[in-house]
Amino acid sequence: MPKSVYIETYGCQMNEYDSEILKGILAKTNNYSIIDTPDGADFILLNTCSVRDNAEVTIWNRLTQLKQYKKKKKNLQVGIIGCMAERMRDEIFEKSDLVKMVIGPDEYRRVPEILENSLAGEIGIAVRLSRVETYEDIEPLRTKGLSAWLAIMRGCNHFCTYCIVPYTRGRERSRSVQSILDEISKLQDSGFRELTLLGQNVNSYFDETQKIDFPNLLRKVAKQAPEMRIRYVTSHPLDMSDDLIYSMAEFDNICNYIHLPFQSGSNRILDLMNRGYTSEHYLGRIQKIKENLTDYALSSDIITGFPDETEQDHQDTIELMKAVQLDGAFMFKYSPRKGTKAYKLADNVPEDIKKRRLNEIITLQNSISKSRNQLEIGKSLEVLVEKPSKKKATEWMGKTKSNKVVIFDNLENQFKEGDLVHTKIIRSNSATLFGEIVK
Ligand code: SAH
Ligand code: SF4
Ligand code: F3S
Repeated sequence: MPKSVYIETYGCQMNEYDSEILKGILAKTNNYSIIDTPDGADFILLNTCSVRDNAEVTIWNRLTQLKQYKKKKKNLQVGIIGCMAERMRDEIFEKSDLVKMVIGPDEYRRVPEILENSLAGEIGIAVRLSRVETYEDIEPLRTKGLSAWLAIMRGCNHFCTYCIVPYTRGRERSRSVQSILDEISKLQDSGFRELTLLGQNVNSYFDETQKIDFPNLLRKVAKQAPEMRIRYVTSHPLDMSDDLIYSMAEFDNICNYIHLPFQSGSNRILDLMNRGYTSEHYLGRIQKIKENLTDYALSSDIITGFPDETEQDHQDTIELMKAVQLDGAFMFKYSPRKGTKAYKLADNVPEDIKKRRLNEIITLQNSISKSRNQLEIGKSLEVLVEKPSKKKATEWMGKTKSNKVVIFDNLENQFKEGDLVHTKIIRSNSATLFGEIVK
């Protein structure tokens, strides 16, 4: 009888993809079945994130909840995998007596063996980071649907001073172009309509053997899969080359949505963060995007309350937000991470000020998002049909190439998941567009 494994995933899209990789590894052994509920599972694995303290708090709380499953099933084995496993290593065993396995993101090939040994009472720890592991020969076990993820590179060499990712994910390494194109062929055969290329710094992708960089990879992918919408995430402003922008302009199926985090609008803070660019450089990239792409949308990550951030620095961030006019943003309070360079700096922006600044930028972004979405009114936009909207069964939702949600009538279920429809946008708010089908 195969043993059952339940994997619960937290954190970024790379973690979602990694869970699919791990399922692929386990499925290949024929000794394990993957289930989608913790009830009755022989193994529960939490694929974790360490990027901010609250991501880890969530996991500790979840572990407390999981004790009930252990009570019901004495031989249940629980493991922590992913970034928190890599960051905390054996400290996790000291903090939780439920956890018997700790496995980092470059060690998933060893999971079958570690699971088996844990049944014999062995504690499992595997946290070595690799310079070469890309899992390029592993076929991920994906859930059928419209969208697929595909990691083309892993790791990060940037070492922004606040960020734990280079320590949990190791150095940058890229998969071969051929392995990527082969995997995409399989996705095409299985009817996926949208593909997101993933990497911690996706635009620094480089195939060493064939000397192919990210813009040229993108061209090959777009050419091979004209029926698929192609997206990518996350880019670094330093690697946002002109050629990348040109490659996006060349192909209709490369989505004109760019997530390009700037983190702060203050050059002084950007320097303290080791981001390697100025707000002027960032604005230059946006200018280039505006000149070359139509109907594009932009989003960013912004951190507020970094050590020594003054009111002036905060205003600089506000000014940059106003100048760029992002369609959306992910905004965070700075969270000190042990082991990073910034951890040595005093976390000296008081909590109430961090909170106030965060609220200010959230309010500003909402009004910018609203006015950006107003500009869509009257346009005719192509929408990839997804599913019924939450509010009404006859209203469905889908996304534009620029990643905006459009709600439209689907009265007699004339449209189904995966259809492409054209909608004319008639109204909008800060989060959503409302469209009428154009025949
Ligand atoms: N590789 C990506 C994503 C990194 S993590 C990139 O470079 O953009 C996603 C976001 O989390 C970051 O862009 C940053 O805004 C935020 N983040 C990372 N470390 C953080 C910290 N210590 N405190 C608050 N936010 C953080
Ligand atoms: Fe973290 Fe910076 Fe690397 Fe992004 S580029 S993963 S923020 S170190
Ligand atoms: Fe979190 Fe690791 Fe992703 S720290 S954001 S799960 S790379």
